[in-house]
Amino acid sequence: MLETRISRRAALIGAGAVAAWLASPARALLQAVGRLDVPPFVDQLIGRMTLEEKAGQLSLMASAWGGGAALALNPPQGNADFPRQVEEARKGQLTGVFNGNGATMARILQTAAVKESRMKIPLIFAADIIHGHRTIFPVPLAEVASFEPDLARRTAEAAAFEAAGAGIDWTFSPMVDIARDQRWGRGVEGGGEDVLMGRLFAAARVQGFQGSDFKSIDHMLACAKHFAAYGAAEEGLDYNTVDMSEERLREVYLQPYKAAFDAGALSAMASFNDINGVPSTGNHWLMTDLLRGEWGFQGFVVSDYTGDEEMIAHGFAKDGRDAARLALLAGVDMSMQSGLYRQHLPDLVRKGEVPQATLDQSVRRVLAMKAMLGLFDDPFRRIDVKRESARSMLPRTRALAREAGRKAIVMLKNERDLLPLPRSGKKIALIGPFARGQHDLVGPWVVYGDDAKAVDLATGFRSALTDKNSLIIAEGSGVEEPIAGGIEQAVTAARAADIVVLAIGEGQGMSGEAQSRTEIVVPEPQQALAEAVATAGKPMVVVLKHGRALALQGAVANAPAILATWFLGTETGNAIADVLFGDYSPSGRLPASFPLRSGQEPYYYAHKSTGRPNPPGPLEAYKAHFRGIPNSALYPFGHGLTYGKIDYSGLALSAPALPMSGEIAITATVTNRGTRAAEEVVQLYTHDRVASLTRPVRELKAFRKVALAPGQSEVVRFTLRASDLAFYSRDNRLTVEPGSFDVWIAPSAEADGLHATFELTA
Ligand code: BGC
Repeated sequence: MLETRISRRAALIGAGAVAAWLASPARALLQAVGRLDVPPFVDQLIGRMTLEEKAGQLSLMASAWGGGAALALNPPQGNADFPRQVEEARKGQLTGVFNGNGATMARILQTAAVKESRMKIPLIFAADIIHGHRTIFPVPLAEVASFEPDLARRTAEAAAFEAAGAGIDWTFSPMVDIARDQRWGRGVEGGGEDVLMGRLFAAARVQGFQGSDFKSIDHMLACAKHFAAYGAAEEGLDYNTVDMSEERLREVYLQPYKAAFDAGALSAMASFNDINGVPSTGNHWLMTDLLRGEWGFQGFVVSDYTGDEEMIAHGFAKDGRDAARLALLAGVDMSMQSGLYRQHLPDLVRKGEVPQATLDQSVRRVLAMKAMLGLFDDPFRRIDVKRESARSMLPRTRALAREAGRKAIVMLKNERDLLPLPRSGKKIALIGPFARGQHDLVGPWVVYGDDAKAVDLATGFRSALTDKNSLIIAEGSGVEEPIAGGIEQAVTAARAADIVVLAIGEGQGMSGEAQSRTEIVVPEPQQALAEAVATAGKPMVVVLKHGRALALQGAVANAPAILATWFLGTETGNAIADVLFGDYSPSGRLPASFPLRSGQEPYYYAHKSTGRPNPPGPLEAYKAHFRGIPNSALYPFGHGLTYGKIDYSGLALSAPALPMSGEIAITATVTNRGTRAAEEVVQLYTHDRVASLTRPVRELKAFRKVALAPGQSEVVRFTLRASDLAFYSRDNRLTVEPGSFDVWIAPSAEADGLHATFELTA
């Protein structure tokens, strides 16, 4: 019998703190790493520093290494003067650089800082290690599909091992912004639409990056970003306004950041957006009252890239000087890239517009963190050219990338058991812009990965097929542009084959920063390709590439088999072949709902009910639906099929009522009636029927991944406590109200599953 114990939020309710439910490995480290130790020498140093040197310690810049990673990511920065940057390090005008280029570069800069600057304070080296360093793992959203937080912990740890080996002390990760509008491009970097998943994966990633010892040369400091609610941008338009009730902010959007801090993350990045009229970067309530006052966060906050300066365009700061003042006073300790802190803070302090104590406090946090990372003991501890190459792309790291890749794949549909495909005896036409070639596999936010090391689909297929000649390949179309004659060739290939695998979807540049889309569909030329290829009448498997949930249409939606494969990184082709040819029974579940149409966005399963919900079945007049379309998902959060046939039965509750101080057990039996082994993700949802504030129609409270051999049954047992049913009331306090609750054990957020009710009694 399996048991899943759900959050023990009750203990924290009185204190007004939010949930601290974490995956079990996180709990052990919770107390150990959440504290910032300030050694006495830090204040001695501060006592000897000039105002300019203090402002320098709060100024982080993109690496100016010519032609390097930072410049490739952000060509407009125009800051490629490396000798000048070395000079800045020498003069104490720099706290560190980000997205630099490895140990050689780091050694030059660090030498200037610790040997040639007056205060000899070491630099910190940061980078966007979002889903891998050299070995690229699935994009973060894809990893959430595994419903296995520990997998994300392991890939974060492996990424840290490679990156720390290359001199990186600090990653701008995890990105923990809940994203419920698929038009937004940056959902690909995060934990999806759900609160519980957001919390679990945030904590797991912090654990993986940081390990249990900040001084370790195998780990690095994590940074929870983008604080806060960046994923709630209106219209899904990147950088846009957020305006929402404090209850929702606390109950949904703030939760994963809190989980990251509880797991020990000692840095945070301010988000670009404003919240209820105040940009995060200048938001004292957010950065100081809530983060430090209420939550007790002891680490430091960095702005996002020129986020302080952007308060001018927001219409919140008059000029650069005002922006620097507002940001520091709000509680943003470090300025990224604008240079405004080093330009204006000394004068602001001299003129009494910023208290010196505030400046010193920020410097103290930054220096204490550098000390905790071991940089004062040995500034070169992570900078070692030999270690950098010795750790790069080890076989075990690639094996982990392949494991993570397989686990991230979600089988959306598999009519008449079209999958898995045979390894021999059939001709397979692999068609589409992603059939061949290493571009568009690794996904957005790859700073150091090398496309050329990635396994493409054709290569993965060939190594899985017994008869290599049974594979026919046709590109058919570009990602967003048609290819002359491409469709004809593709149709010819489809006709010559027994089975078609159509690899289509978004290019990797179509999600990520500043990549909002109005229509979240397969790009038009590829949709046309799908329609044409379908006319060949061959069984068709659609293999989707995507950085967000998509609205599937026409021949794509109608294909008998569909796999959601996201961007899987270095081992893409192998991971997809593992699933397609049956080496691995798909076990992924959607971390974000696929809507029926783009126009439903933001669509998420945990929505509220209207006063006129349309009952299941046909659309009724004057009920909540769109013209001709119900307001439900094509494939909801939590959906995903396996190669088994999973049956749910025997829902049982340990009692009809849950007393405030007790618990209730909910059990069900899952059986694999198929002929192949499978892993099922059993999900538990609840709904509070009547409350003083309306509640979501369903909320995920727990899940369990269960391995089932053919014919095997397993009883899955969950326990719920009153605290698991808490919500933020109108006065922004966690509250639990007695009353009736629905409970489901189900294979997805919108599947009927097994249903029961119970009473929460006072
Ligand atoms: C992004 C951050 C990133 C930073 C540094 C910004 O544009 O919003 O997520 O960490 O750049 O590259």
